[in-house]
Order: sequence, then structure tokens, then C-alpha cells
Amino acid sequence: MKYAVITGTSRGLGESIAKLLMQQGIHVIGVARHANKSLKKLAQETTGSYQDYACNLANGEETEKIFSIIADQLFKKQTDIVYLIHNAGTVNPINTADKHTVESLNSHVHVNLIAPMITTGVFLKKANKTKIPLIVTSVTSGAADRSVYGWSAYCGTKAGLNRYTTSVALEQDQLATSNKVILFDPSIMDTDMQEEIRSTSKEAFQDVDKFQKYKEEDSLRDTDTVANVLVDILMDSENVVNGEYYSVKDVL
Ligand SMILES: NC(=O)c1ccc[n+]([C@@H]2O[C@H](COP(=O)([O-])OP(=O)(O)OC[C@H]3O[C@@H](n4cnc5c(N)ncnc54)[C@H](OP(=O)(O)O)[C@@H]3O)[C@@H](O)[C@H]2O)c1
Repeated sequence: MKYAVITGTSRGLGESIAKLLMQQGIHVIGVARHANKSLKKLAQETTGSYQDYACNLANGEETEKIFSIIADQLFKKQTDIVYLIHNAGTVNPINTADKHTVESLNSHVHVNLIAPMITTGVFLKKANKTKIPLIVTSVTSGAADRSVYGWSAYCGTKAGLNRYTTSVALEQDQLATSNKVILFDPSIMDTDMQEEIRSTSKEAFQDVDKFQKYKEEDSLRDTDTVANVLVDILMDSENVVNGEYYSVKDVL
């Protein structure tokens, strides 16, 4: 049995990854605040399966509890491999740093960075104990490597996620485990996140015109196309390179 745990499956890229993995016969567990009824329905037409867990990733204790329950469920004798995909993310708050509130920063950093850290730790512990191979994917962004006016929180957490991911990969390498930890950059996609970005004021986000043009000029990729690239990488699990930065731009 092959399992994938994906955060943020209620819409966007996470929904597409879940759908395509199910079509490969993978048993998918989706984690988000909202359930995804169409994935449950779709599962009946595939050789895979879909199960939802409701969890607010902005809450560290809740995240640890839910992922411990999921890990207990997955790391068992009949399991061949477990995929953990950190896909859930938020670009908010979009504004200059002086306008951020403690509440918005707390939530942002938890969803984009602390939740991946907590859940990676929970799954690695189980993988190392059971010797079941684990492949962890962190969905990153080009914003990790460049500074953007109004996106200091997002650039900061994605940069942190990159360094966290490659550091954990280095540890797994030196510990000689069979676990692999990688980054995946999906580039720009037509999702709710892009809609939020486009509807920000120019005062809060100076590049807003550029992002409005992406939509007008049809430059945003659809999520199935992007998800397909990641699924192709993950299905060839033997050849996944621990610590690698995979970008959709290298393929499409
Ligand atoms: N869209 C782009 O152009 C783009 C570009 C580069 C990188 N990315 C990255 O790609 C990933 C997916 O982005 P997307 O565009 O598909 O985003 P999206 O359409 O906004 O969807 C975000 C997903 O994250 C979940 N999520 C957000 N806050 C959560 C919370 N507190 N607890 C649990 N789940 C939460 C949402 O579920 P609920 O609301 O149901 O909780 C939703 O399923 C993100 O990591 C993003 O940073 C996107």
C-alpha cells in the first residue's frame, strides 16, 4: 500500500495533486480546514482512495495531534511508502511590515513554516522506527529567493521552508536513512491565491499590475498541469534525489 498525506487539498494545487495521485492508485489523506467532497466522489472511480482530516494548521497543538493520529494509521506492516506533501500555504498578510498584526503573523508563520516543521518531525520519527520509506515534499515559491514589496512575510516563510527542507535532507543523508526530503516550485498557477494577490491594493503590493496581467494574458498554469509534474517525479520514487530543488519550469 502506498499512502500520501497532502495539506491544503480543499482547492488549488493540493486538490490536483490528490486527484492525480489517486489515479495512480495511491491512498490519499487530505488535511485542510474544509472538506473536499469532489475528491471523495472521484476516489470511487480510481484505484486509490481519499480521506479528509479537518485541521487548522495555524494551531500547532492541533496539527501535532492530527498528524500523530494519521502517522499511527499509516506506518504499519503493509505500507510500502509514505509521501508527505506540504502544500497548504498562505500569502497573507500582504502589506508593508509596519502594517502586520501579531495575529496575522502568528497564523501565517504557523501555516507556511511551523506546520511543515511539526509534521515532518512526527513522520520522520515513525519512518525511522518502522523503516518504511518516507518522501517529504515542501511546496515552495520563487518568492523564497527574491524580495517582494508587500510580501515580506511570504518571502520570509518560503525562504525559511527552503532552508529547513534542505537541512533536514542533509541530516537524513548523514544518518543514512532511506528518507528523502525535497522542494517543489510550482511557479504561477491559476488559483484562489492568485485571485487574492490580484485584488490587493497597489499601496500594499507594488507589483499588483504585473499579477493582474498574468491573468489577462493567460500566463497562469492550471493546477492539473503543475501537479502532473510533481506526480511524475514522486512516482519514480527510486530516482527522487534527497535535498533536490525541483521546479516545474525545468519540465514545462
Ligand atoms: N498559486 C500560485 O501562483 C503559487 C505560486 C508559487 C507557490 N505557490 C504555493 O503553492 C501552494 C498551493 O497554493 P495554491 O495557489 O493552491 O493555494 P490556494 O488555492 O490558496 O489553497 C490553499 C490551500 O491551503 C489550505 N490552507 C490555508 N490555510 C490553512 C490553514 N490555516 N489550515 C489548513 N489548511 C490551510 C487551504 O485549505 P482551507 O482553506 O480549507 O483550510 C487550501 O486548500 C502554496 O504553498 C503556495 O505558497 C502558489
